[in-house]
Amino acid sequence: MKLKNKVCIITGATSGMGKAVAQSFSKEGAKLVLSGRNLDRGNALAAQLPHSVFMEGDVSEPSYNENLVKAAIENFGQLNILSFNAGMLGLGDVVNLPETLWHKTLNVNLSAIFYLCKNAIPHIQKRPGGAIVINTSIAAFKSFPNHPAYCASKAAAVALMKQMAVEYAPDIRINAICPGPVDTPFLWDSAKAFKNPDSAVEDAKNATLLNRLGTPEDIAKLTLFLASEDASWITGSSMTIDGGILNA
Ligand SMILES: NC(=O)c1ccc[n+]([C@@H]2O[C@H](COP(=O)([O-])OP(=O)(O)OC[C@H]3O[C@@H](n4cnc5c(N)ncnc54)[C@H](OP(=O)(O)O)[C@@H]3O)[C@@H](O)[C@H]2O)c1
Repeated sequence: MKLKNKVCIITGATSGMGKAVAQSFSKEGAKLVLSGRNLDRGNALAAQLPHSVFMEGDVSEPSYNENLVKAAIENFGQLNILSFNAGMLGLGDVVNLPETLWHKTLNVNLSAIFYLCKNAIPHIQKRPGGAIVINTSIAAFKSFPNHPAYCASKAAAVALMKQMAVEYAPDIRINAICPGPVDTPFLWDSAKAFKNPDSAVEDAKNATLLNRLGTPEDIAKLTLFLASEDASWITGSSMTIDGGILNA
């Protein structure tokens, strides 16, 4: 029970990695505020996990982030941990990317982190053992075609993580995980950005040193480690979890 009675907000909990994080945090005794847009998937997950509530909304809205924190305090009386997983691709090269899509991608992948942290940090600081884990991407360090908004937002999210880790130490440990290709709907959507969309996912798999895609559970294990006291001397780190693809 690595997170017994810890109260956690998990964004992107309706699918892929965020859902796996929610399931693993729950097994470890956490109480959860689950965030996402899809009402059916969100309510179904909350029904499966004890001590959890689902809040539907768009993370790019500041007031929704305020409400996530209120839900944690009203339902569970405290807040200890944030796990950021909501994300979007916003595909298109700089010349053809509509300004609205640029801004939306930056809002969902970057500003949403600012909005939730702004509201959550004063509550997390009230107790020892606070932790924030931000799911970014290897796209913070490596460029991909038609991903300018995505790469820029993920690199900025790593920079924001490092700044906050300095600002809020030693009260709160703040780290980023940087996944490579993980088998979720998001990865299959990203295939259309590449020259050979039909083989893009297989190509990514073959480009890893470990010769497989990541699973949401691989990511949940690292998120749990960083959120728990097992990582009590780790803050300000951006950890790649990518089957070795960045080093290939
Ligand atoms: N899959 C990969 O290969 C990969 C690699 C590196 C990094 N990542 C990052 O990993 C994170 C999780 O992605 P995933 O692969 O697990 O994708 P996924 O299965 O498509 O899940 C994405 C999640 O983000 C939520 N979301 C998206 N836009 C939102 C918004 N405006 N407001 C609220 N929630 C929103 C979705 O909610 P609804 O479904 O309810 O709309 C969903 O829960 C993302 O930040 C992504 O950038 C993915």
